[in-house]
Amino acid sequence: MQSIVKIGLACSLTLLMCQQSLAEWDASAGRKKAETCMGCHAVPHYVNTYPTYHVPKLGGQHKEYIIAALNGYRDKQRSHSTMHANAVSLTDQDIADIAAYFAQGLGGEK
Ligand code: HEC
Repeated sequence: MQSIVKIGLACSLTLLMCQQSLAEWDASAGRKKAETCMGCHAVPHYVNTYPTYHVPKLGGQHKEYIIAALNGYRDKQRSHSTMHANAVSLTDQDIADIAAYFAQGLGGEK
């Protein structure tokens, strides 16, 4: 009897760990987390008004690409001080959610 309990415990622990390590995509959470990004990345024509500079379009990009880019900024493998500042506080889960959101494309935009 005791061993069955032990096995059950071990299984549920493993499951729990698997669920945690597998960052699930949650695009609706990503939408909220991406709010600060929109001021720059969702401007018309992808050019900020002032100071005028070009921002990359994110809507419709592949998840993998956005994840790689954000990890790069976070780890300073990509150097861009603005994006480093934006990426440094993101967790892996945040990045996964944000990527899922942008990969859907932004509403009405093509
Ligand atoms: C202050 C303006 C600003 C904010 C806020 C901002 N970004 Fe950026 N982002 C930029 C600029 C400018 C670049 C281009 C940087 C470069 O040339 O490497 C960029 C690049 C990127 C890239 C790489 C795109 C590509 O095609 O390589 C990703 C992904 C990205 N941003 C995601 C985000 C996310 C997610 C957030 C919110 C957490 C965010 N950004 C917030 C200005 C901003």
